Amino acid sequence: MENQAILNNTKEINFDAVNGKFGEFGGLFVPPVLEGKLLHLFEVFETARKDASFQEEYAYYLKHFVGRPSPLYYAHRLSQHIGSKIYLKREDLNHTGSHKINNTIGQILLAKRMGATEIVAETGAGQHGVATATAAALFGMKCKVFMGSEDAERQKMNVSRIKLLGAELILTNAGRGTLKDAVDAALGYYIQNPNIYYLLGSQVGPHPYPTMVGYFQSIIGREAKKQFIEREGRLPDNILACIGGGSNAIGLFNDFLKDHEVAIHAAEGGGIGAVLGETAATLTLGRKGVFQGTYSYALTDENGEVYPTRSIAAGLDYPGVSPQHALLKDSNRAEYHLITDDEAIEAFQLLSHLEGIIPAIESAHAIALAQKILKNKPNQISIINLSGRGDKDVERDLT
Ligand SMILES: Cc1ncc(COP(=O)(O)O)c(C=O)c1O
Repeated sequence: MENQAILNNTKEINFDAVNGKFGEFGGLFVPPVLEGKLLHLFEVFETARKDASFQEEYAYYLKHFVGRPSPLYYAHRLSQHIGSKIYLKREDLNHTGSHKINNTIGQILLAKRMGATEIVAETGAGQHGVATATAAALFGMKCKVFMGSEDAERQKMNVSRIKLLGAELILTNAGRGTLKDAVDAALGYYIQNPNIYYLLGSQVGPHPYPTMVGYFQSIIGREAKKQFIEREGRLPDNILACIGGGSNAIGLFNDFLKDHEVAIHAAEGGGIGAVLGETAATLTLGRKGVFQGTYSYALTDENGEVYPTRSIAAGLDYPGVSPQHALLKDSNRAEYHLITDDEAIEAFQLLSHLEGIIPAIESAHAIALAQKILKNKPNQISIINLSGRGDKDVERDLT
């Protein structure tokens, strides 16, 4: 859709959460034992967000522990290859190797305020597991990480890192042994142990997680906007990110949502293509419904049964998606594209060869999308969120 048409359609829409709802999406669909806990968590978050001492502590760890601000790097050889000017927002350079640490530092500070002593998390690609185990080690808290057995097999390096950081890794063999199964296992543990702190890693699940995770990741876009304007003296034409649950994408997008001249694009894990059961392209092929605590799109059949998913990228291999992205899709403010495994592998190699940057296979989906939609657009300037580095994928031999 032309940008002017998007402007006319979306300028009245509030894309921010109002009590956990993004338009018709979001909400809190959990057993009563968790409802009060999650509403309390929202209150703690709201108080902390307005508290200068919390903001100061969060900013301190982002700067001195994570290494922020991350650079905005002009990728000149990739730009030449595609025929359009491209900057990379280097979340891969954060401590622990991805954007996930922005959220875990924010949430661990909330957990500390709440007096929590045990942290529980799920992980797919292992990056959120590593980031949570890191944050727990930093504050001397006990940590359990749930992971699907298939993901543990394909992300071995992160399995070792999680253990080395002192966390207990609990594998689940349910389903295909991927992120959905890890979330089910972690939520199950939370229901049994409602006094732990559940540190959810993407913009999914019940309120207040989509609001909180979106908030903590928005540092990405705030920095990128400032850095871009300093370099180019204007706003970018396009911003791009990969999307699993949606946290790195919303992190980049949030600060640009009202800038209607900026086109917004996200790359879903398409697996073998548009075949239900063999893809993880939730916004491209999903239906509206309640899934894992929130109302959004999900890869389900007409009876609400969840399809198995497939993606080369463990971090994108998930049948649910953020309620805020659901609203961005339905309002046409952002476009969501299916990127296949083969396209992502080609982009993984391309960025490595052209720029000397090995991306996470998740992030390679955003590079593949750029190849498709930015080809020979020399007058356009874009930002791609490089959500993570590819060390974890090297031993899979994607060459
Ligand atoms: C490097 C990287 N990028 C992207 C993702 C996808 O998650 P999200 O959509 O929440 O950013 C993951 C998830 O594990 C990841 O590890």
